[in-house]
Amino acid sequence: MKDILENLERRRASARAGGGERRIEAQHRRGKLTARERLELLMDKSSFEEFDMFVEHRATDFGMDKTKISGDGVVTGWGTVNGRTVFAFAKDFTVFGGSLSETHAQKITKIQDMAMKARAPIIGLFDAGGARIQEGVAALGGYGEVFKRNVIASGVIPQISVIMGPCAGGDVYSPAMTDFIFMVKDTSYMFVTGPDVVKTVTNEVVTAEELGGAVVHTTRSSVADGAYDNDVECLLQMRRLIDFLPASAAAGPPEWPSFDDIEREDPSLDTLVPENPNKPYDMKELVLKVADEGDFFEISEAFARNMVTGFGRLDGRTVGFVANQPMVLAGVLDADASRKAARFVRFCDAFDIPIITFVDVPGFLPGTAQEYGGLIKHGAKLLFAYSQCTVPLITVITRKAFGGAYDVMASKHIGGDINYAWPSAQIAVMGAKGAVEIIFRSDLGDPEKIAART
Ligand code: HXC
Repeated sequence: MKDILENLERRRASARAGGGERRIEAQHRRGKLTARERLELLMDKSSFEEFDMFVEHRATDFGMDKTKISGDGVVTGWGTVNGRTVFAFAKDFTVFGGSLSETHAQKITKIQDMAMKARAPIIGLFDAGGARIQEGVAALGGYGEVFKRNVIASGVIPQISVIMGPCAGGDVYSPAMTDFIFMVKDTSYMFVTGPDVVKTVTNEVVTAEELGGAVVHTTRSSVADGAYDNDVECLLQMRRLIDFLPASAAAGPPEWPSFDDIEREDPSLDTLVPENPNKPYDMKELVLKVADEGDFFEISEAFARNMVTGFGRLDGRTVGFVANQPMVLAGVLDADASRKAARFVRFCDAFDIPIITFVDVPGFLPGTAQEYGGLIKHGAKLLFAYSQCTVPLITVITRKAFGGAYDVMASKHIGGDINYAWPSAQIAVMGAKGAVEIIFRSDLGDPEKIAART
Protein backbone atom coordinates (compact mmCIF):
# COMPACT_ATOMS: atom_id res chain seq x y z
CA MET A 1 0.00 0.00 0.00
CA LYS A 2 2.86 2.35 0.85
CA ASP A 3 4.24 1.91 -2.69
CA ILE A 4 0.85 2.62 -4.21
CA LEU A 5 0.48 5.82 -2.17
CA GLU A 6 3.99 6.96 -3.06
CA ASN A 7 3.32 6.28 -6.71
CA LEU A 8 0.07 8.25 -6.49
CA GLU A 9 1.90 11.21 -4.92
CA ARG A 10 4.55 11.03 -7.68
CA ARG A 11 1.85 11.07 -10.34
CA ARG A 12 0.11 14.00 -8.64
CA ALA A 13 3.36 15.97 -8.47
CA SER A 14 4.03 15.26 -12.13
CA ALA A 15 0.50 16.35 -13.14
CA ARG A 16 0.83 19.54 -11.09
CA ALA A 17 4.05 20.34 -12.94
CA GLY A 18 2.03 20.60 -16.20
CA GLY A 19 4.27 21.13 -19.22
CA GLY A 20 7.38 21.37 -17.01
CA GLU A 21 9.59 23.95 -15.34
CA ARG A 22 10.81 25.56 -18.60
CA ARG A 23 7.31 26.29 -19.88
CA ILE A 24 6.10 27.46 -16.45
CA GLU A 25 9.01 29.90 -16.32
CA ALA A 26 8.13 31.15 -19.82
CA GLN A 27 4.56 31.67 -18.63
CA HIS A 28 5.76 33.71 -15.62
CA ARG A 29 8.17 35.72 -17.79
CA ARG A 30 5.20 36.86 -19.85
CA GLY A 31 3.52 38.13 -16.68
CA LYS A 32 1.02 35.26 -16.66
CA LEU A 33 0.20 32.83 -13.86
CA THR A 34 -0.25 29.10 -14.47
CA ALA A 35 -3.70 27.50 -14.61
CA ARG A 36 -3.42 26.12 -11.06
CA GLU A 37 -2.07 29.38 -9.64
CA ARG A 38 -5.05 31.16 -11.19
CA LEU A 39 -7.56 28.74 -9.70
CA GLU A 40 -5.94 29.11 -6.28
CA LEU A 41 -6.50 32.88 -6.49
CA LEU A 42 -10.03 32.61 -7.84
CA MET A 43 -11.31 30.18 -5.22
CA ASP A 44 -11.40 30.44 -1.43
CA LYS A 45 -8.17 29.23 0.13
CA SER A 46 -7.70 25.44 -0.29
CA SER A 47 -11.29 24.99 -1.47
CA PHE A 48 -10.48 23.91 -5.04
CA GLU A 49 -11.14 20.22 -5.66
CA GLU A 50 -9.56 19.09 -8.91
CA PHE A 51 -11.06 16.38 -11.12
CA ASP A 52 -9.54 14.20 -13.83
CA MET A 53 -5.98 15.13 -13.02
CA PHE A 54 -4.56 12.06 -14.77
CA VAL A 55 -6.52 12.23 -18.01
CA GLU A 56 -4.30 11.94 -21.10
CA HIS A 57 -5.09 12.34 -24.78
CA ARG A 58 -5.64 9.27 -26.98
CA ALA A 59 -4.03 10.54 -30.18
CA THR A 60 -1.38 8.44 -31.90
CA ASP A 61 -0.66 10.36 -35.12
CA PHE A 62 2.33 12.69 -35.52
CA GLY A 63 4.20 10.96 -32.66
CA MET A 64 1.59 12.01 -30.14
CA ASP A 65 1.62 8.53 -28.55
CA LYS A 66 5.05 9.43 -27.16
CA THR A 67 3.95 12.84 -25.84
CA LYS A 68 1.41 12.53 -23.07
CA ILE A 69 1.03 14.96 -20.20
CA SER A 70 -1.35 14.31 -17.30
CA GLY A 71 -4.33 16.63 -17.35
CA ASP A 72 -4.12 17.18 -21.11
CA GLY A 73 -3.98 20.98 -21.03
CA VAL A 74 -6.92 21.86 -18.83
CA VAL A 75 -7.44 21.91 -15.06
CA THR A 76 -11.05 21.31 -14.01
CA GLY A 77 -12.94 21.15 -10.73
CA TRP A 78 -15.03 23.05 -8.25
CA GLY A 79 -14.47 25.22 -5.23
CA THR A 80 -16.06 28.08 -3.34
CA VAL A 81 -15.96 31.86 -3.71
CA ASN A 82 -16.82 33.50 -0.39
CA GLY A 83 -18.43 30.23 0.60
CA ARG A 84 -20.59 29.78 -2.54
CA THR A 85 -20.06 26.86 -4.95
CA VAL A 86 -18.47 27.65 -8.32
CA PHE A 87 -17.32 25.22 -11.03
CA ALA A 88 -14.27 26.12 -13.07
CA PHE A 89 -11.90 25.05 -15.81
CA ALA A 90 -8.57 26.69 -16.59
CA LYS A 91 -6.65 26.09 -19.80
CA ASP A 92 -3.03 25.16 -19.11
CA PHE A 93 -0.93 26.89 -21.77
CA THR A 94 2.15 24.94 -20.66
CA VAL A 95 0.58 21.72 -22.00
CA PHE A 96 0.23 21.66 -25.81
CA GLY A 97 -0.48 25.40 -25.66
CA GLY A 98 -3.77 24.69 -23.84
CA SER A 99 -5.13 23.37 -27.14
CA LEU A 100 -8.33 21.36 -27.11
CA SER A 101 -8.23 17.60 -27.77
CA GLU A 102 -11.06 15.07 -27.56
CA THR A 103 -10.25 14.19 -23.93
CA HIS A 104 -9.59 17.84 -22.99
CA ALA A 105 -13.11 18.63 -24.28
CA GLN A 106 -14.55 15.75 -22.25
CA LYS A 107 -13.05 17.22 -19.08
CA ILE A 108 -14.74 20.56 -19.80
CA THR A 109 -18.13 19.08 -20.71
CA LYS A 110 -18.07 17.04 -17.50
CA ILE A 111 -17.66 20.25 -15.49
CA GLN A 112 -20.38 21.95 -17.52
CA ASP A 113 -22.76 19.06 -16.78
CA MET A 114 -21.89 19.10 -13.09
CA ALA A 115 -22.43 22.86 -12.84
CA MET A 116 -25.86 22.42 -14.45
CA LYS A 117 -26.80 19.58 -12.09
CA ALA A 118 -25.64 21.57 -9.07
CA ARG A 119 -27.21 24.79 -10.46
CA ALA A 120 -24.02 26.72 -9.73
CA PRO A 121 -22.05 29.25 -11.81
CA ILE A 122 -19.25 28.11 -14.12
CA ILE A 123 -16.16 30.11 -14.93
CA GLY A 124 -13.66 29.34 -17.71
CA LEU A 125 -10.11 30.73 -17.73
CA PHE A 126 -8.75 30.80 -21.31
CA ASP A 127 -5.12 30.77 -22.38
CA ALA A 128 -5.00 28.55 -25.44
CA GLY A 129 -4.22 28.05 -29.11
CA GLY A 130 -7.52 26.56 -30.33
CA ALA A 131 -8.11 23.05 -31.64
CA ARG A 132 -5.32 20.48 -31.00
CA ILE A 133 -4.10 20.41 -34.57
CA GLN A 134 -2.77 16.84 -34.31
CA GLU A 135 -6.30 15.60 -33.48
CA GLY A 136 -8.12 17.26 -36.35
CA VAL A 137 -11.82 16.51 -36.52
CA ALA A 138 -11.89 14.86 -33.06
CA ALA A 139 -11.04 18.29 -31.65
CA LEU A 140 -13.73 20.00 -33.73
CA GLY A 141 -16.25 17.50 -32.38
CA GLY A 142 -15.10 18.31 -28.85
CA TYR A 143 -15.75 22.01 -29.42
CA GLY A 144 -19.25 21.23 -30.66
CA GLU A 145 -19.99 19.35 -27.42
CA VAL A 146 -18.81 22.35 -25.37
CA PHE A 147 -20.78 24.88 -27.47
CA LYS A 148 -23.99 22.90 -27.21
CA ARG A 149 -23.71 22.87 -23.40
CA ASN A 150 -23.04 26.63 -23.32
CA VAL A 151 -26.36 27.13 -25.05
CA ILE A 152 -28.28 24.71 -22.83
CA ALA A 153 -26.86 26.41 -19.71
CA SER A 154 -27.63 29.91 -21.02
CA GLY A 155 -30.14 31.63 -18.74
CA VAL A 156 -30.00 28.72 -16.28
CA ILE A 157 -26.63 29.24 -14.55
CA PRO A 158 -24.27 32.22 -14.86
CA GLN A 159 -21.38 31.50 -17.25
CA ILE A 160 -18.27 33.69 -17.13
CA SER A 161 -15.23 33.58 -19.44
CA VAL A 162 -11.90 35.16 -18.60
CA ILE A 163 -9.32 35.55 -21.37
CA MET A 164 -5.84 35.43 -19.84
CA GLY A 165 -3.59 34.71 -22.82
CA PRO A 166 -4.13 33.81 -26.46
CA CYS A 167 -7.66 32.75 -27.33
CA ALA A 168 -7.82 31.72 -30.94
CA GLY A 169 -9.77 29.57 -33.38
CA GLY A 170 -12.35 27.33 -31.73
CA ASP A 171 -11.59 28.79 -28.30
CA VAL A 172 -13.37 32.06 -29.03
CA TYR A 173 -16.85 30.68 -29.59
CA SER A 174 -17.49 29.14 -26.20
CA PRO A 175 -16.73 32.45 -24.42
CA ALA A 176 -18.89 34.27 -26.97
CA MET A 177 -21.90 32.23 -25.86
CA THR A 178 -21.36 32.85 -22.16
CA ASP A 179 -22.84 35.76 -20.20
CA PHE A 180 -19.67 37.79 -19.63
CA ILE A 181 -16.16 37.95 -21.07
CA PHE A 182 -13.30 39.68 -19.24
CA MET A 183 -9.72 40.11 -20.43
CA VAL A 184 -6.28 40.91 -19.04
CA LYS A 185 -4.65 43.97 -20.61
CA ASP A 186 -1.51 43.44 -22.72
CA THR A 187 -1.30 39.65 -22.21
CA SER A 188 -4.57 38.47 -23.72
CA TYR A 189 -6.08 38.57 -27.17
CA MET A 190 -9.03 36.96 -28.92
CA PHE A 191 -9.60 36.39 -32.61
CA VAL A 192 -11.05 33.81 -34.94
CA THR A 193 -8.00 33.95 -37.22
CA GLY A 194 -4.63 35.38 -36.22
CA PRO A 195 -2.47 38.05 -37.88
CA ASP A 196 -0.71 35.54 -40.20
CA VAL A 197 -3.97 34.28 -41.71
CA VAL A 198 -5.27 37.85 -41.96
CA LYS A 199 -2.15 38.81 -43.92
CA THR A 200 -2.55 35.85 -46.29
CA VAL A 201 -6.26 36.34 -46.95
CA THR A 202 -6.70 40.11 -46.93
CA ASN A 203 -3.10 41.35 -47.21
CA GLU A 204 -3.73 43.42 -44.08
CA VAL A 205 -0.79 43.77 -41.71
CA VAL A 206 -1.95 43.88 -38.10
CA THR A 207 -0.54 42.93 -34.69
CA ALA A 208 -2.29 40.51 -32.32
CA GLU A 209 -3.01 43.43 -29.98
CA GLU A 210 -4.52 45.54 -32.77
CA LEU A 211 -6.57 42.63 -34.02
CA GLY A 212 -8.00 41.31 -30.77
CA GLY A 213 -6.40 42.85 -27.69
CA ALA A 214 -8.29 44.00 -24.60
CA VAL A 215 -8.56 47.61 -25.83
CA VAL A 216 -10.17 46.55 -29.11
CA HIS A 217 -12.67 44.19 -27.50
CA THR A 218 -13.70 46.48 -24.64
CA THR A 219 -14.02 49.71 -26.67
CA ARG A 220 -14.81 48.78 -30.29
CA SER A 221 -16.17 45.28 -30.80
CA SER A 222 -17.84 45.00 -27.34
CA VAL A 223 -16.88 41.31 -27.33
CA ALA A 224 -15.42 41.79 -23.83
CA ASP A 225 -17.22 43.34 -20.84
CA GLY A 226 -14.14 44.60 -19.01
CA ALA A 227 -10.34 44.39 -18.80
CA TYR A 228 -7.90 44.43 -15.91
CA ASP A 229 -4.21 45.22 -15.53
CA ASN A 230 -2.98 41.74 -14.58
CA ASP A 231 -4.03 38.19 -13.67
CA VAL A 232 -4.27 38.90 -9.93
CA GLU A 233 -6.49 41.96 -10.25
CA CYS A 234 -8.65 40.22 -12.82
CA LEU A 235 -9.29 37.16 -10.65
CA LEU A 236 -10.03 39.26 -7.56
CA GLN A 237 -12.58 41.23 -9.60
CA MET A 238 -14.15 37.93 -10.76
CA ARG A 239 -14.63 36.99 -7.10
CA ARG A 240 -16.34 40.34 -6.59
CA LEU A 241 -18.60 39.75 -9.61
CA ILE A 242 -19.61 36.28 -8.41
CA ASP A 243 -20.72 37.85 -5.11
CA PHE A 244 -23.32 39.83 -7.08
CA LEU A 245 -24.65 36.90 -9.12
CA PRO A 246 -27.36 34.40 -8.22
CA ALA A 247 -26.21 30.76 -8.26
CA SER A 248 -28.86 30.01 -10.89
CA ALA A 249 -32.01 31.38 -12.48
CA ALA A 250 -34.08 29.75 -9.73
CA ALA A 251 -31.94 30.78 -6.76
CA GLY A 252 -32.78 34.51 -6.57
CA PRO A 253 -30.24 37.26 -5.91
CA PRO A 254 -27.75 36.53 -3.13
CA GLU A 255 -28.12 38.51 0.08
CA TRP A 256 -25.10 39.90 1.94
CA PRO A 257 -25.09 41.80 5.22
CA SER A 258 -25.57 45.49 4.45
CA PHE A 259 -24.07 48.25 6.56
CA ASP A 260 -25.90 50.92 4.56
CA ASP A 261 -29.07 52.27 6.18
CA ILE A 262 -31.99 51.70 3.79
CA GLU A 263 -33.48 55.02 5.03
CA ARG A 264 -30.27 56.93 4.24
CA GLU A 265 -30.92 60.31 2.56
CA ASP A 266 -28.35 62.07 0.42
CA PRO A 267 -29.07 65.84 0.22
CA SER A 268 -26.25 66.31 -2.32
CA LEU A 269 -28.56 64.72 -4.89
CA ASP A 270 -30.77 67.83 -4.74
CA THR A 271 -28.15 69.64 -6.79
CA LEU A 272 -27.10 66.77 -9.04
CA VAL A 273 -29.27 67.75 -12.01
CA PRO A 274 -28.22 71.21 -13.30
CA GLU A 275 -30.85 73.89 -13.87
CA ASN A 276 -29.67 74.39 -17.44
CA PRO A 277 -31.16 71.40 -19.33
CA ASN A 278 -28.23 71.37 -21.76
CA LYS A 279 -25.58 71.05 -19.07
CA PRO A 280 -24.26 67.54 -18.54
CA TYR A 281 -23.88 65.83 -15.16
CA ASP A 282 -22.48 62.48 -14.16
CA MET A 283 -25.26 59.87 -13.89
CA LYS A 284 -22.76 57.47 -12.28
CA GLU A 285 -22.75 59.77 -9.26
CA LEU A 286 -26.45 58.96 -8.82
CA VAL A 287 -25.85 55.22 -9.22
CA LEU A 288 -23.01 55.27 -6.69
CA LYS A 289 -25.05 57.27 -4.18
CA VAL A 290 -28.04 54.94 -4.45
CA ALA A 291 -26.17 51.60 -4.35
CA ASP A 292 -25.32 50.14 -0.94
CA GLU A 293 -21.96 51.50 0.21
CA GLY A 294 -21.32 52.91 -3.27
CA ASP A 295 -20.37 49.41 -4.46
CA PHE A 296 -21.04 49.20 -8.21
CA PHE A 297 -19.69 46.52 -10.58
CA GLU A 298 -19.86 48.13 -13.98
CA ILE A 299 -20.37 45.97 -17.10
CA SER A 300 -18.96 47.17 -20.45
CA GLU A 301 -17.71 50.40 -18.93
CA ALA A 302 -15.55 51.36 -21.92
CA PHE A 303 -18.11 50.62 -24.67
CA ALA A 304 -21.08 52.87 -25.55
CA ARG A 305 -20.31 55.11 -22.61
CA ASN A 306 -23.57 57.02 -23.17
CA MET A 307 -25.21 54.07 -21.39
CA VAL A 308 -24.22 52.81 -17.94
CA THR A 309 -24.95 49.20 -16.93
CA GLY A 310 -23.87 47.20 -13.90
CA PHE A 311 -24.66 45.52 -10.63
CA GLY A 312 -25.12 47.06 -7.21
CA ARG A 313 -27.09 46.16 -4.09
CA LEU A 314 -30.07 47.63 -2.27
CA ASP A 315 -30.42 46.54 1.35
CA GLY A 316 -27.89 43.78 0.67
CA ARG A 317 -29.57 42.26 -2.41
CA THR A 318 -28.35 42.52 -5.99
CA VAL A 319 -30.03 44.88 -8.44
CA GLY A 320 -29.11 45.80 -12.01
CA PHE A 321 -28.64 49.50 -12.81
CA VAL A 322 -29.29 50.79 -16.33
CA ALA A 323 -28.79 54.51 -16.87
CA ASN A 324 -28.38 57.03 -19.67
CA GLN A 325 -25.16 59.00 -19.21
CA PRO A 326 -25.62 62.72 -20.04
CA MET A 327 -21.82 63.19 -19.91
CA VAL A 328 -21.40 61.24 -23.18
CA LEU A 329 -23.29 62.24 -26.36
CA ALA A 330 -25.88 63.84 -24.03
CA GLY A 331 -27.02 60.32 -23.08
CA VAL A 332 -28.57 59.72 -26.51
CA LEU A 333 -29.69 56.19 -27.47
CA ASP A 334 -27.67 54.83 -30.38
CA ALA A 335 -27.26 51.33 -31.77
CA ASP A 336 -24.33 50.44 -29.49
CA ALA A 337 -25.96 51.78 -26.31
CA SER A 338 -29.19 49.96 -27.16
CA ARG A 339 -27.61 46.55 -27.65
CA LYS A 340 -25.35 46.98 -24.63
CA ALA A 341 -28.33 47.72 -22.39
CA ALA A 342 -30.52 45.07 -24.05
CA ARG A 343 -28.04 42.33 -23.29
CA PHE A 344 -27.71 43.45 -19.69
CA VAL A 345 -31.49 43.71 -19.17
CA ARG A 346 -31.96 40.20 -20.58
CA PHE A 347 -29.33 38.82 -18.20
CA CYS A 348 -31.03 40.45 -15.19
CA ASP A 349 -34.43 39.18 -16.28
CA ALA A 350 -33.16 35.64 -16.79
CA PHE A 351 -31.56 35.59 -13.34
CA ASP A 352 -34.33 37.27 -11.36
CA ILE A 353 -32.40 40.47 -10.67
CA PRO A 354 -34.62 43.59 -10.27
CA ILE A 355 -33.69 46.51 -12.51
CA ILE A 356 -33.43 50.20 -11.56
CA THR A 357 -33.43 52.46 -14.63
CA PHE A 358 -32.33 56.11 -14.49
CA VAL A 359 -33.54 58.04 -17.53
CA ASP A 360 -32.12 61.19 -19.08
CA VAL A 361 -32.36 60.66 -22.81
CA PRO A 362 -32.85 63.27 -25.53
CA GLY A 363 -33.97 60.59 -28.03
CA PHE A 364 -32.47 58.26 -30.60
CA LEU A 365 -29.34 59.46 -32.41
CA PRO A 366 -30.21 60.63 -35.95
CA GLY A 367 -27.97 60.07 -38.98
CA THR A 368 -26.96 57.77 -41.79
CA ALA A 369 -24.26 56.05 -39.71
CA GLN A 370 -26.92 54.99 -37.21
CA GLU A 371 -29.57 54.00 -39.74
CA TYR A 372 -27.07 52.02 -41.84
CA GLY A 373 -25.80 50.44 -38.62
CA GLY A 374 -29.25 49.03 -37.85
CA LEU A 375 -30.39 51.49 -35.19
CA ILE A 376 -33.98 50.35 -35.71
CA LYS A 377 -33.25 46.70 -34.94
CA HIS A 378 -30.77 47.42 -32.14
CA GLY A 379 -33.18 49.89 -30.52
CA ALA A 380 -35.89 47.25 -30.83
CA LYS A 381 -33.70 44.80 -28.92
CA LEU A 382 -33.82 47.07 -25.87
CA LEU A 383 -37.54 47.65 -26.29
CA PHE A 384 -38.05 43.89 -26.55
CA ALA A 385 -35.82 43.14 -23.56
CA TYR A 386 -37.61 45.56 -21.22
CA SER A 387 -41.06 44.60 -22.52
CA GLN A 388 -40.38 40.95 -21.83
CA CYS A 389 -39.12 41.48 -18.27
CA THR A 390 -40.83 39.67 -15.43
CA VAL A 391 -38.45 41.06 -12.78
CA PRO A 392 -39.41 44.21 -10.82
CA LEU A 393 -38.67 47.35 -12.86
CA ILE A 394 -38.25 50.69 -11.10
CA THR A 395 -37.73 53.70 -13.35
CA VAL A 396 -36.63 57.19 -12.33
CA ILE A 397 -36.73 59.97 -14.93
CA THR A 398 -34.14 62.49 -13.78
CA ARG A 399 -34.43 64.94 -16.67
CA LYS A 400 -35.25 64.31 -20.34
CA ALA A 401 -37.38 61.42 -21.50
CA PHE A 402 -38.06 62.29 -25.11
CA GLY A 403 -39.61 60.51 -28.05
CA GLY A 404 -39.31 56.80 -28.71
CA ALA A 405 -36.46 56.66 -26.22
CA TYR A 406 -38.96 57.56 -23.47
CA ASP A 407 -40.97 54.47 -24.33
CA VAL A 408 -37.90 52.24 -24.57
CA MET A 409 -36.28 53.17 -21.24
CA ALA A 410 -38.54 50.99 -19.05
CA SER A 411 -41.54 53.29 -19.38
CA LYS A 412 -44.82 52.56 -17.61
CA HIS A 413 -46.34 51.43 -20.90
CA ILE A 414 -43.91 48.59 -21.56
CA GLY A 415 -43.93 47.20 -18.06
CA GLY A 416 -42.29 49.57 -15.57
CA ASP A 417 -43.73 48.65 -12.17
CA ILE A 418 -43.01 51.94 -10.42
CA ASN A 419 -42.08 55.00 -12.47
CA TYR A 420 -40.88 58.09 -10.62
CA ALA A 421 -40.25 61.61 -11.89
CA TRP A 422 -37.33 63.54 -10.39
CA PRO A 423 -38.50 67.17 -9.78
CA SER A 424 -36.61 68.18 -12.94
CA ALA A 425 -38.19 65.50 -15.19
CA GLN A 426 -39.46 66.48 -18.64
CA ILE A 427 -41.48 63.90 -20.55
CA ALA A 428 -42.32 64.80 -24.12
CA VAL A 429 -42.58 63.56 -27.67
CA MET A 430 -39.49 65.69 -28.40
CA GLY A 431 -37.62 68.75 -27.10
CA ALA A 432 -39.51 72.08 -27.22
CA LYS A 433 -37.32 73.64 -29.92
CA GLY A 434 -37.62 70.66 -32.26
CA ALA A 435 -41.38 70.62 -31.79
CA VAL A 436 -41.74 74.36 -32.51
CA GLU A 437 -39.66 74.03 -35.68
CA ILE A 438 -42.10 71.43 -36.97
CA ILE A 439 -45.50 72.72 -35.95
CA PHE A 440 -44.64 76.40 -36.55
CA ARG A 441 -42.62 75.75 -39.69
CA SER A 442 -43.91 78.97 -41.29
CA ASP A 443 -42.10 80.99 -38.58
CA LEU A 444 -38.75 79.41 -39.32
CA GLY A 445 -37.46 82.57 -41.01
CA ASP A 446 -38.00 84.55 -37.81
CA PRO A 447 -35.66 83.36 -35.01
CA GLU A 448 -37.26 85.67 -32.45
CA LYS A 449 -40.69 84.19 -33.03
CA ILE A 450 -39.29 80.67 -32.83
CA ALA A 451 -37.50 81.52 -29.57
CA ALA A 452 -40.65 83.01 -28.10
CA ARG A 453 -42.72 79.97 -29.06
CA THR A 454 -40.02 77.63 -27.67
C1 HXC B 1 -1.38 21.86 -30.85
C2 HXC B 1 -0.36 23.80 -30.14
C3 HXC B 1 -1.42 24.56 -30.68
C4 HXC B 1 -2.49 23.88 -31.32
C5 HXC B 1 0.00 25.90 -29.78
N1 HXC B 1 0.49 24.66 -29.60
N2 HXC B 1 -1.16 25.86 -30.45
N3 HXC B 1 -0.35 22.45 -30.23
N4 HXC B 1 -2.41 22.51 -31.40
N5 HXC B 1 -3.53 24.53 -31.84
C6 HXC B 1 1.74 24.28 -28.92
C7 HXC B 1 2.99 24.65 -29.68
O1 HXC B 1 3.32 23.61 -30.57
C8 HXC B 1 3.99 24.80 -28.55
O2 HXC B 1 4.40 23.52 -28.13
C9 HXC B 1 3.18 25.37 -27.43
O3 HXC B 1 1.81 25.05 -27.73
C10 HXC B 1 3.29 26.87 -27.28
O4 HXC B 1 3.06 27.43 -28.56
P1 HXC B 1 4.02 28.57 -29.15
O5 HXC B 1 3.62 28.76 -30.57
O6 HXC B 1 5.44 28.24 -28.87
O7 HXC B 1 3.62 29.81 -28.25
P2 HXC B 1 3.42 31.32 -28.69
O8 HXC B 1 4.58 31.80 -29.49
O9 HXC B 1 3.09 32.04 -27.43
O10 HXC B 1 2.14 31.35 -29.64
C11 HXC B 1 0.88 31.01 -29.14
C12 HXC B 1 -0.11 30.90 -30.30
C13 HXC B 1 0.44 29.98 -31.40
C14 HXC B 1 -0.37 32.30 -30.87
C15 HXC B 1 -1.43 30.40 -29.70
O11 HXC B 1 0.87 28.77 -30.80
C16 HXC B 1 -0.56 29.66 -32.46
O12 HXC B 1 -0.76 30.50 -33.37
N6 HXC B 1 -1.16 28.49 -32.37
C17 HXC B 1 -2.12 28.04 -33.38
C18 HXC B 1 -3.38 28.86 -33.30
C19 HXC B 1 -4.40 28.39 -34.31
O13 HXC B 1 -4.26 28.61 -35.53
N7 HXC B 1 -5.40 27.74 -33.83
C20 HXC B 1 -6.53 27.34 -34.66
C21 HXC B 1 -6.62 25.87 -34.66
S1 HXC B 1 -8.02 25.47 -35.67
P3 HXC B 1 5.80 23.24 -27.43
O14 HXC B 1 5.89 21.78 -27.33
O15 HXC B 1 6.83 23.87 -28.32
O16 HXC B 1 5.74 23.90 -26.10
C22 HXC B 1 -9.36 25.78 -34.69
C23 HXC B 1 -10.68 25.61 -35.38
C24 HXC B 1 -11.74 25.16 -34.45
O17 HXC B 1 -9.26 26.07 -33.56
C25 HXC B 1 -13.07 25.67 -34.90
C26 HXC B 1 -14.18 25.17 -34.04
C27 HXC B 1 -15.45 25.90 -34.33
